[in-house]
Amino acid sequence: MKVAVFGDIHGNIEALTAAYSAVQLIKPDKVYHLGDLGGYSPFIDEVVAFLSEHNIEGVQGNYDETIANDREHCGCKYEDPIQEEMANKSFEWTKKHASPETKEYLRKLPFSLSFVAEGKKILLFHATPSKNNLYWFEDRPEKFFREMSAKTDADVMIYGHTHKPYRKDFGGKVFVNAGSVGKPKDGDRRSCITLITITTDKVDVEFLRVPYDVHKAADAIIASGLPEYFADRLKEAR
Ligand SMILES: [Fe+2]
Repeated sequence: MKVAVFGDIHGNIEALTAAYSAVQLIKPDKVYHLGDLGGYSPFIDEVVAFLSEHNIEGVQGNYDETIANDREHCGCKYEDPIQEEMANKSFEWTKKHASPETKEYLRKLPFSLSFVAEGKKILLFHATPSKNNLYWFEDRPEKFFREMSAKTDADVMIYGHTHKPYRKDFGGKVFVNAGSVGKPKDGDRRSCITLITITTDKVDVEFLRVPYDVHKAADAIIASGLPEYFADRLKEAR
């Protein structure tokens, strides 16, 4: 079985349509998203409509849950006061502009999704199996991987939230951070799609990087009234 996974799209419809076109050539059995569908780029309604139209199932991210329920804060963490100020502007913008239908869709997203393929249990969630806003980076100590594994009986865990893709094998399990379709932070501004091929004897993980019109996406951020800061971040992939 082959699945394609779209992590953290964050309102970037240019990246999503390019990613979807690339996936069409590969013809996976199923395409999933990992939530965080809005914020930082303006096209949250368009992203949700696109996913619905193409029957792409997925899970609820911290940004989805907080936008859907008009919370005070997105549950994100910041590296500095400027980032915090900009992120607050993005959150307020997104809460104000997301349609009631979009919020309803976000509200109904499940916390996690699971399926069995070739005898292996696959679990998808946004950040960790029990909390949707913890950053599960590759360099977390093995103790953290062990603690997270203990929360589930899954053989393969697929998640995002950090926007930095990796695959790690530990304790007989496979951990896959799918990176980000719409807002990569690993220095490579191309959209990241994760392809996971499950056979009886192994799990193959491939990170496919898809170029898209980053300048068009950046211009749309500025035109929408969102801070130019996010246009710069998109170009720099950080
Ligand atoms: Fe997130």
